[in-house]
Amino acid sequence: MNEQTLITTAQALTAGHKGLLAMDESNSTCNKRFEAIGIPQTVEYRRAYRELIITTPDLGKYVSGVILYDETIRQQKKDGTTFIKVILDAGIIPGIKVDIGAKQLAGHPGEKVTEGLDGLRDRLKAYGLMGARFAKWRGVISTDDTLPTHGCIAANAQALARYAALCQEAGLVPVIEPEVLMDGDHSIHQCFDVTEECLQAVFAALYLQNVMLEGIILKPNMVLPGLSCEVQESIDEIADATIKCLLRNVPAAVPGITFLSGGQPAELATARLNAMNVRFKSGMPWDIAFSFARAIQQPALEIWKGYEANVLAAQQALYHRVMCNAAARRGEYNM
Ligand code: 13P
Repeated sequence: MNEQTLITTAQALTAGHKGLLAMDESNSTCNKRFEAIGIPQTVEYRRAYRELIITTPDLGKYVSGVILYDETIRQQKKDGTTFIKVILDAGIIPGIKVDIGAKQLAGHPGEKVTEGLDGLRDRLKAYGLMGARFAKWRGVISTDDTLPTHGCIAANAQALARYAALCQEAGLVPVIEPEVLMDGDHSIHQCFDVTEECLQAVFAALYLQNVMLEGIILKPNMVLPGLSCEVQESIDEIADATIKCLLRNVPAAVPGITFLSGGQPAELATARLNAMNVRFKSGMPWDIAFSFARAIQQPALEIWKGYEANVLAAQQALYHRVMCNAAARRGEYNM
């Protein structure tokens, strides 16, 4: 393992005011998003949509890295230029989702564990040869009156840590994503407790697997009330709860934290990130940034609708969101 390469990549992805653009939806997730707005669910539409994203003019001004999916990393623009070349020419670092999805966890009704460790060493090598310099793995944790169980948290933490060790062995920075889902009516306090237990479990597992913390990126959820919880805290209260939870549970050796958006409205996700940077400007040991998918893409997708004539307007919407998120990193975003 070349430690300095990992450290340099992790810092390049998270330092400054840029962030990550997640465009690694699996085919089924991408198809679901297309279906919701009437876009045909074909490989060509998925390709055209991803071409729209990566050819957005000046994307590299605000985006340090993009996360691709197995189908996408192999694709080309209509003129034959590989997506990887387009991304590198824009000054953006290519990354790749390497988990193969969350599956029912045996013995734990209603809970999931993420799969994809079998053969991962070979897949990481192949992705590295294609140009990927970082990877992503997402574990999902549900919250309700009885969930999550300690068993589910432990299983996902173990998988994340084994994935991370394999990534570092292959010279790729692991983006470690333990996501406490927003679905449900749980309170912000429950989310805080569950997020805290997950982070504790993840960092204990990373320690056991000899993962070098200076060469990882953490991609957590913000600490939020459930979507259908009656009490919805203010932007500042959410910023405070999130940073308090992270300060208690994320070692200072981690260079950067890039939040997922998790289904938050785009402007709200940005405003919450902004509030964290305003309120804790000099009090955090890590850079905090974004690694949003929906909170960057959704407005653009709704404008595009699958029509060539809408590409420019969709790219403008996408650019606007990444610009706003970069402003939020500086604490300069006005909703
Ligand atoms: P969202 O920002 O849409 O939650 O997606 C982030 C991501 O990469 C999910 O794995």
